[in-house]
Amino acid sequence: MASNKNLLILAGDGIGPEVMREVNRVVEWMDKRRAVSFDITEDLVGGAAIDKHGVPLADETMDKAMEADAVLLGAVGGPQWDNLDFSIKPERGLLRLRKEMELFANLRPALCFDALVEASSLKPELVSGLDIMIVRELTGGVYFGEPRGIETLPNGERRGINTQVYTTSEIRRVAEVAFDLARKRDSRVCSVEKANVMESGLLWREEVTKLHGEGFDDIDLSHMYADNCSMQLVRTPKQFDVILTDNLFGDMLSDTAAMLTGSLGMLPSASLGATDATGRRKAMYEPVHGSAPDIAGESKANPLATILSFAMNLRYSFDMGDEADLIEKAVTKVLSSGKRTGDIMAAGCELVSTEGMGSALLRELDEQAA
Ligand code: NAD
Ligand code: IPM
Ligand code: MN
Repeated sequence: MASNKNLLILAGDGIGPEVMREVNRVVEWMDKRRAVSFDITEDLVGGAAIDKHGVPLADETMDKAMEADAVLLGAVGGPQWDNLDFSIKPERGLLRLRKEMELFANLRPALCFDALVEASSLKPELVSGLDIMIVRELTGGVYFGEPRGIETLPNGERRGINTQVYTTSEIRRVAEVAFDLARKRDSRVCSVEKANVMESGLLWREEVTKLHGEGFDDIDLSHMYADNCSMQLVRTPKQFDVILTDNLFGDMLSDTAAMLTGSLGMLPSASLGATDATGRRKAMYEPVHGSAPDIAGESKANPLATILSFAMNLRYSFDMGDEADLIEKAVTKVLSSGKRTGDIMAAGCELVSTEGMGSALLRELDEQAA
C-alpha cells in the first residue's frame, strides 16, 4: 500500500461543491481499486467560509493548506457576496492561498479532445489536435501590486488604483517553469506581455530573453504583445506550444483558450510553488472556471475540469502518473461515448447531469482497470 497522501479539499461556492462531489467519487475509486490511500481533510473557502467565519479563508484553513501535500479547490464567489467589503470578498480567500503558499506558476493546459472538436466555437480544423500549455504568473503583477485602493480626491472625484509590478526574480522563476515544460513538449515558448506600452512588460521581455540565453537556447523563444496573442489564439491557435504570460493576461488568455477546447468546464489547472531542498513543492489544483452562479444548484455543471485538475494533482504532487493517465483516458472515452453536460452538448449526443457525467467516468475507469 502506498503511503498516505495528505489532500486538503476546499469545494467553495456555487458549482464548486457539485463538481467536487464527483471528484470525491474518483478519490474513493482510487482508494478501492488502486489501493491508494488519501488522507483527506475538507474545509471551507470563499463565500462558504464567510458565512461561517466572517472571512473568506480562516487562519486554521490557511495553516492546513500550508501543511497539506496538495490542495484541491472547487470555485469561489457568487452574487450574494458581491457587495461585501473588498477585503473580505470570496475571491480574496483564493488569492490569499495562492500568495501565502507562493504558488507563482499556474499551468493551464488547453487540450481539445477529439470528441469535442465540434463543441468548440471555432472551425474543427483550427482546433483539432490542439494542445497548448499556458503558464500564468500567479502571485505578482497587478493582482497584488502596491499601491492599490480607492481614494477620494480633493475635488470629490474618486480614484481606483492598481499597480502592475514585476521584479526580475518573479519573472525569471516563472519563465524557468515555462522553459522546463517546453522541453517535455514541442520546445517552443511564446512570451506574452505589452512591452510596447508597459515598463513591466519591457522588463519581462528583457529578463525572459536573458534567461533563455543562460541555458535554454534549445528552446525556440518568441515574443508577442498580449492584444495580438488574444487575436492569434482565435485565428490559428495551433501555432502555440507554451504561452508564458503574467497574472492578468494569463487570466484572460486562459478563458479564451478554454473556449477553443469546447468549454470553460473542460480546463484544469495546477498552481505550483518552488521545489524545496527535500524535493517537495506546494501545490493547489483548481479548475479554470468559477462558481457559475447561473447554473449552480441545477446539476448542470461539467465536473471534468475539476476531475482533470485532480489528475494533474496525481501527476505533479503524488507521483501517480499512471493513475493520472487512467483518468485522462477515461475522460477521452466518456466524451467519445457521446455523454455530454449542457456546456459541451452537441447533436446526436446524450445530455447528462453533473452526477451522470461522474457515473459515466467511473464506469470507464472500471472498464480500464478490469
Ligand atoms: P464562471 O467561470 O463562473 O462562469 C462563466 C460561464 O461559464 C457561465 O455561463 C457558467 O455557467 C459557465 N461555466 C463555468 N464553469 C462551468 C462548468 N464547469 N460547467 C458548465 N458551465 C460552466 O465566471 P463568472 O460568471 O464570471 O464568475 C462567477 C463567480 O465565480 C464570480 O464570483 C467570480 O469571481 C468567480 N470565479 C471564481 C473562480 C475560481 O474560484 N477559481 C474563477 C473564475 C471566476
Ligand atoms: C481564475 C479566477 C481568479 C483570478 C479570481 C476568482 C480571483 O478568475 O482563477 O481564473 O482572477 O485569478
Ligand atoms: Mn479567471
